[in-house]
This record gives sequence, C-alpha cells and structure tokens, in this order.
Amino acid sequence: MNKISIAIDGPASAGKSTVAKILAKKMCYIYLDTGAMYRAVTLAVLNNGISPEKADEVAALLPSIEIGFEQGKNGQLVFLNGADVTEAVRQPEVTNNVSQIAAQEAVRVDLVKRQQEYGKHGGIVMDGRDIGTAVLPNAEVKIFLVASVEERAERRYQENISKGIMTDFETLKKEIEERDFKDTTREISPLVQADDAVKIDTTGMSIEDVVNAIENVVNA
Ligand code: DC
Repeated sequence: MNKISIAIDGPASAGKSTVAKILAKKMCYIYLDTGAMYRAVTLAVLNNGISPEKADEVAALLPSIEIGFEQGKNGQLVFLNGADVTEAVRQPEVTNNVSQIAAQEAVRVDLVKRQQEYGKHGGIVMDGRDIGTAVLPNAEVKIFLVASVEERAERRYQENISKGIMTDFETLKKEIEERDFKDTTREISPLVQADDAVKIDTTGMSIEDVVNAIENVVNA
C-alpha cells in the first residue's frame, strides 16, 4: 500500500496526539506533533526575554530556532537548538503564551514550511489545527477530532493527576475554553474543519475506539 498522509486536527485536549501516535506506530509512519513546534518557538521567545506580543522581535528570532524530534524510551522527545525541551514546552508559562505566538503570521509561515518539508514524502501522521487546511491540503485522510469541553477538561485533569500535578477542574475548563476561543478566532489559519475532513466526536469513546474509527476511514 502506498504511503499516504494523515492530517488530524481539532481543539486542545481532544485526544489528537494520543491517537496520532498510536496510529503512526501501527502504520510504521512518522508522527509529527506540530503543536510542539509552536511551543518550542514560544519557549525560545521567553528564554530570550522577548515579549510574546512583539511580533517583529519574534520574527527576527525565527532563523536562529532549530527544532528537532527524536524517538526516546518513553515517547517522542522535542529539541530546541540541541537541548531536550520535551518537558519544558509543556510548562504553564509556555501553554499560556503559545496562542499569541501561534497567531503571528511570520511564525506560521515559517513553521508551515518546516512541517511541509517533513510531510513531502507521505508516510506521516501530523496533528495540529491547520494540517488539513494549510499544511497538507492534499492529505489523503483528514480527520477533525472534537469532544465536549467537560470531557477534555476531565482528561487533562486525570493526566495531571497521573503526573502528580494538582489542578483545579474549573480552572482547566476555563483555560480550554479560552484556548478554543483564541484558536478559532485568530485571523490567520484559525481552527476550522476542512471541507473534506471526517469529523469524529470522541466524547465517551475510548482511545481504542477512536483509533479504530480513524483506521476505518484510512481503509475506506
Ligand atoms: O496542540 P497543542 O496544545 O500542543 O498546541 C499548542 C498551541 O499551538 C495551540 O494554542 C494551538 C497552536 N497550534 C496551531 O496554531 N497550529 C498547529 N498546527 C498546532 C498548534
């Protein structure tokens, strides 16, 4: 079977990266977490003492930002200019500033180019917000994953507990709603479902069910 491209888009905490990783492993495909790339740029901006709203300064920093991925023992590792930033890019300071960075045109143009380079030979599962619409508009399979805000907050809450991080459920819910709003209302490449994407509502579904549902789309 020819190696195809699979685009998985959807709002924060809809389970995209979990199912994308499983699917990529099953199909022996590359997995690209494009959200981690926006997070890595955000971390570089903060590390350089640049205010995230200063788009000119952020744009000037882009050429010096090298982002890499490697397979580690416990999953994919993210590198920023050679340093392992897998955990650092998940810290609240990055999460709270990434929407502002992801809304900037220079950042999007640069990262979309890098993502298209990864995807040019197919055999890839990419997850993000604009994969089916902007990064891989010709992807053979496009999935749009959604889930209720309550369920997404609950998943994040349980994930945090398993990592020993105590968070307030209502705060998590509010943060998810805020990120949904920013991601869907930004001017450039807002989060929208591609016309040819298959929508899957994962509310109440197990991870295995979601993977099976996507596999059915791939096989069809
Ligand atoms: O999926 P995530 O939470 O790691 O994404 C981090 C941020 O990056 C989120 O605010 C949306 C943005 N993003 C984007 O704009 N386009 C993508 N392809 C991936 C993520």
